Amino acid sequence: MGPKRMPKDAKQTVRRLLGYLNEDKGKLMLAFLCVIVNTIATLAGSYMLRPIINTYIAPVDGSRGDAAGLARGLGVMALVYLLGVITNYFQAKVMLTVAQNALQKLREDLFIKLQSLPVRYYDTNSNGDIMSRFTNDVDTIGNMLSSTLVQLFSGALSLVGTFLLMVYTNLYLTVITLVMIPLMMKAGGAVARRSQKYFSAQQYSLGALNGYIEETITGQKVVKVFCHEEVAREEFSILNGELRENQIRAQFFGGIMGPVMGNLSQVNYSLTACIGGLLCVVKGFDVGGLTVFLNFSRQFSRPINEISMQISNVFSALAGAERVFHVMDEAPEPADEADARVLEPMEGHVVFEDVTFGYVPEKTILKHISLYAKPGQKIAFVGSTGAGKTTITNLLNRFYDIQSGRITIDGVDIRRLSRESLRKNIAMVLQDTHLFTGTVRENIRYGRLDATDEEVIQAAKTASAHSFIMRLPQGYDTMLEGDGANLSQGQRQLLNIARAAISKAPILILDEATSSVDTRTEKHIEHGMDRLMANRTTFVIAHRLSTVRNANAIMVLENGEIIERGDHEELVAHKGRYYQLHTGLSELD
Ligand SMILES: Nc1ncnc2c1ncn2[C@@H]1O[C@H](COP(=O)(O)OP(=O)(O)O)[C@@H](O)[C@H]1O
Ligand SMILES: [Mg+2]
Repeated sequence: MGPKRMPKDAKQTVRRLLGYLNEDKGKLMLAFLCVIVNTIATLAGSYMLRPIINTYIAPVDGSRGDAAGLARGLGVMALVYLLGVITNYFQAKVMLTVAQNALQKLREDLFIKLQSLPVRYYDTNSNGDIMSRFTNDVDTIGNMLSSTLVQLFSGALSLVGTFLLMVYTNLYLTVITLVMIPLMMKAGGAVARRSQKYFSAQQYSLGALNGYIEETITGQKVVKVFCHEEVAREEFSILNGELRENQIRAQFFGGIMGPVMGNLSQVNYSLTACIGGLLCVVKGFDVGGLTVFLNFSRQFSRPINEISMQISNVFSALAGAERVFHVMDEAPEPADEADARVLEPMEGHVVFEDVTFGYVPEKTILKHISLYAKPGQKIAFVGSTGAGKTTITNLLNRFYDIQSGRITIDGVDIRRLSRESLRKNIAMVLQDTHLFTGTVRENIRYGRLDATDEEVIQAAKTASAHSFIMRLPQGYDTMLEGDGANLSQGQRQLLNIARAAISKAPILILDEATSSVDTRTEKHIEHGMDRLMANRTTFVIAHRLSTVRNANAIMVLENGEIIERGDHEELVAHKGRYYQLHTGLSELD
């Protein structure tokens, strides 16, 4: 349950959702036809008891019952019910297919959309949130399509049907039911509201407590080292107490719901039976009629409850659908220019001309950046966290477009290039390694899908990854799962380097590629890196200055500006910021 999620524009969302059912219109009609037959069969089955009682059990003319006739009557009744069961089965089966077809299409559209969204979208939305649209929201939509829709329809249908039959059977008794039902609903609603409130509180406390437990378990070393056990115990006991209180309240109100409704329904039943009995005696109302009426009045509240319950499901499914459609309405990466150029092969001559950029227009991050890199050169960026180093590489990839200035590769403005041809020519190794589920070989080949097995091995050798791969249980065929959880951080990074090595991209970006590995591994990786950089225009961002010493040019960035530039010797001789960093007079960050 939890707080209700309401759709903002239900009509529009429903229309779009129905679009996904369009292809299965015929099946949908069939399912609804089944529901109609099913509802009629159920109602007819119940009503048939009246003639059966009146003719075979307690004949209205006072004669004796007729066993053979009774058996026949019950046989027909069974057949009618059987028809109900069969149609119900078909309806469920058809709706399941219809719903799954729609979901498959929805997931497909969503995934395709996700591939087309710009990096900006992923930078500004949490992964968890995007994931939950894919899982939770699509699931609630699925539930609605496969069962809620049908239940709503059949609920409404049987409500109307039951009501009509009740009126037909006896008008007085119908009036009594019509008075009692709202009373019951009101009482039930009051209890439900309270229990809903306490239930949300219970869920909230439960979440808080679980969060606290998880935090202290994963952070147990920190807790111990800072002698925080006592405080942790106290904080825990407060949360624990709250959960107890809320759980008692929630479960109490949840628990009395059933009995309250049960008692009220008994009152209704007795009242109807008393007055109905009286009508039989005084007004000649038939016993069969009374029997079926008692059944109907008992059943009457069921579709009402069902509908009210399903309506909240519909709302949360529509809210989910809205969240899904919201993603689909996000603007994709703008299309390439109609006559976008394809530069292949690129040489790797990169020039930034007076580039100014901000992720949001109000806040300029990079100011007037100008630099050039000749093919095969190595350009390094150093500077404190947040200086704008990663941002520069984001621009080169066209993850973001610049606001003013120009970036050219081999003399062509990158905005005039097709994104595919631009990105094909850039390889990247980042601090956060990323491996996909698959074998080692497949992960390396990700860098260039048409690479041969020999080329994969060659790339692994370039990255100094070959020897450790050979020591893995199945060598290059070892399966990697969960982002390479079975490898060390350094090994994961070597595979990322191999993946970059196999691509023939003439431009290479290394963003803190060695920052999260220890110095020994770094030494090991460095050989691979050096081989990787050979003959490529490389932009390297490094935390440890030792790794940028041999760069052709080092740019010292501060607050989005290049404050010093030159090679290592020049910058040291200049005795500026780089010199301070180099001699340890000033720290990065
Ligand atoms: N996706 C983003 N959206 C908005 N601001 C960002 C984004 N990424 C980085 N920034 C901001 O841009 C500035 C430069 O960040 P970044 O280029 O990542 O620095 P560096 O790599 O030098 O540590 C920082 O102030 C950071 O907060
Ligand atoms: Mg960075």
